Amino acid sequence: MNNTIGFIGAGNMGGAIIKGLLSGGTRSSSDVIICDPRENILQELTKAFPGIQTDTDNAKAAGASILVLAVKPQVYQAVIQEIREQVKPETIVVTIAAGLTLKKVSGWFGEKIKKIVRTMPNTPALISEGMTALCPGTEVAEGELRAVQDIFNAVGKTVVLPEHLMDAYTSLAGSSPAWVFMFLEALADGAVKDGIPRALAYEIASQAVIGSARLVAQSGKHPAVLKDEVCSPGGITIEAVATLEEAGFRSAIIRAVSDCTAKAGELGA
Ligand SMILES: NC(=O)c1ccc[n+]([C@@H]2O[C@H](COP(=O)([O-])OP(=O)(O)OC[C@H]3O[C@@H](n4cnc5c(N)ncnc54)[C@H](OP(=O)(O)O)[C@@H]3O)[C@@H](O)[C@H]2O)c1
Repeated sequence: MNNTIGFIGAGNMGGAIIKGLLSGGTRSSSDVIICDPRENILQELTKAFPGIQTDTDNAKAAGASILVLAVKPQVYQAVIQEIREQVKPETIVVTIAAGLTLKKVSGWFGEKIKKIVRTMPNTPALISEGMTALCPGTEVAEGELRAVQDIFNAVGKTVVLPEHLMDAYTSLAGSSPAWVFMFLEALADGAVKDGIPRALAYEIASQAVIGSARLVAQSGKHPAVLKDEVCSPGGITIEAVATLEEAGFRSAIIRAVSDCTAKAGELGA
């Protein structure tokens, strides 16, 4: 088996993984084959990473030893139908689509492909701060899983999860960046209302969120303890905590996570 990684789809997510993988030097350009219908994307990638192979014909990536399918979920079935005769049984197929189960993808390959790793990355992978969950099919060997994990470790952190947790994970880390961006926008809106210039408000809000997230990750303290440490008795922060509780801040987020998980489950049904 060769040592190549093929990508079918080089949009937001596929592009982020490719860029992280090649800029970090984890893989050499000549190991990577990228297929996408958009010639401008392929040209940009070739300019950034001379030596990669690109094509608009998906069959060119189908012979890679690891094949990452990075198209929209609704396009998976058609792409698999198009390439399934060229994909070898020993190929490790990697999916990144919300809701698509290992069983469904294996079925689309006509049960011929057994080595499938279902993954869920997120867009902070663009700046190598991604979070990816991996769920290997039963026939994926430990070393093969490690090879796939190395791809995603190049663009952030990884965790291996059983498949029944993948929908909840998709909500927690795949979709949650959108809600964090909403929070940042709202935080900045509040500051702009109080007179802080817009650009400065985003800069400050982003750093406050980055710092708070790092504090949770690095201190090992419960988020509620860290919250308590910011709230002085009779102070200004607890005033706003009460406002947020009154508006259903935490319960809205809990409901959003559950709705998102349920929707991911519907996609896989
Ligand atoms: N974006 C996220 O936050 C995120 C997070 C986690 C996982 N994902 C998953 O990542 C996957 C890709 O999402 P995305 O946001 O990267 O989408 P995207 O930006 O639209 O990228 C998909 C790329 O695939 C191309 N494409 C379409 N049909 C194709 C075909 N038949 N063969 C080869 N390439 C084809 C598209 O070209 P055209 O534009 O010309 O159609 C586009 O360049 C999805 O399954 C999604 O669930 C996304």
